[in-house]
Amino acid sequence: MDRLLIEGGARLTGEAAISGAKNAALPILCAALLTREPVTFTNVPRLKDIGTLLTLLAQMGVKVSREGDRVTLDASALDNPVAPYEMVKTMRASILVLGPLVARCGEARVSLPGGCAIGARPVDQHIKGLQAMGAEITVEHGYVHAVVSRLKGARLFTDMVTVTGTENLMMAACLADGETVIENAAREPEVVDLANCLVAMGARISGAGTDVIRIRGVERLSGTTHRIMPDRIETGTYLCAAAATGGDIRLTGTSSAYLDAVVDKLMDAGCEVLMERDAIRLKAPARLTSVSLRTAPYPAFPTDMQAQFMAINAVASGAAMIRETIFENRFMHAVELQRLGADIRIDGNTAVVQGVERLQGATVMATDLRASASLVIAGLVAEGETVIERIYHLDRGYERLEEKLAALGARVRRLA
Ligand code: UD1
Repeated sequence: MDRLLIEGGARLTGEAAISGAKNAALPILCAALLTREPVTFTNVPRLKDIGTLLTLLAQMGVKVSREGDRVTLDASALDNPVAPYEMVKTMRASILVLGPLVARCGEARVSLPGGCAIGARPVDQHIKGLQAMGAEITVEHGYVHAVVSRLKGARLFTDMVTVTGTENLMMAACLADGETVIENAAREPEVVDLANCLVAMGARISGAGTDVIRIRGVERLSGTTHRIMPDRIETGTYLCAAAATGGDIRLTGTSSAYLDAVVDKLMDAGCEVLMERDAIRLKAPARLTSVSLRTAPYPAFPTDMQAQFMAINAVASGAAMIRETIFENRFMHAVELQRLGADIRIDGNTAVVQGVERLQGATVMATDLRASASLVIAGLVAEGETVIERIYHLDRGYERLEEKLAALGARVRRLA
């Protein structure tokens, strides 16, 4: 199993290019299931999760062609609306095929995702919404089985803000009979990117980016070409890595437009952040000041950046309090950071981090995607060598991580 070896102490400087957003690409690729015409996507990141989804789509009868960051999907011969457990268990976002399949085929069998490292993460809201649109849903043998002749527009209200739940229901509603209103909708930029793609395919959607989305169903959607938005979490992760190492970097192919909450905290920590049209530059002080934060749905501070800020607080001056309000078990990186010498106390969904002068390299284990990113940041500032095991988690969400870090001056190597 691959491991990552990091020799700490290098200050990150220079330029790196940001990839397309994983969390926008996943739902947007699923949107191709809604039409018989080919759809082309550009700026698709080359990640393990994207590969998993493309394999899943191919198993359903979708013709997949991929060249570099360009993917064309042709779902004209879609004949097997099934997402088996073997695929869904490796990537929970596979649930995003449920809405499009029911809308297009009138039937879907999608495995329940089951538990994952960061908590239970049920899909009850996806199911409740589709039922309200007239789908008959049974859950048997670990699978969600949905059947309907044609979905009907409905007024939907989700009990909590759910990103993939909003995306699934928005896609399903595009081909429903009549108008659907999703209240308490997720406002994440990735939801807006998906809506923009669907509109380009002929969908009638308004309100994406607010908490009320209206979709007027149409008979059919057509093909289009869509460029995936930049990855705001990858951007934020590199900004944190530069901040922690006292660096000075410029990230291209990205925008600060969706990063206000993160950029604010980096400036509170003492960094200078300069926004350009399609780039961001960050200059860090020799030592950061710790920053407290609380995760919440967009536009508040993203849970996907919580672990990275725990790493930067671990070496900042002062103490910080981090509250996680989205997932119930998202502090597994804390024990690994402690192995590197971090001073962190956990009480329920709150972590208190007391910054230390320095961390020391050690062998640590990646437990989930963003937790792994926090260990990379910690490894970059730790004295000596850090070995991160189970880095397949990183490959799910960070394209060419070692290459980009090395270009910024980090001493990092993959060990097979
Ligand atoms: C998405 C992102 C993930 C991010 C998360 C929160 C993708 C592919 N993944 O995950 O990176 O960390 O948003 O910003 O976009 N919930 C239920 N029932 C449901 C649905 C959700 O109880 O039917 C709960 C979840 O357990 C969680 C909360 O709602 O506590 C938010 O989850 P949700 O927004 O759905 O996360 P994902 O869409 O899975």
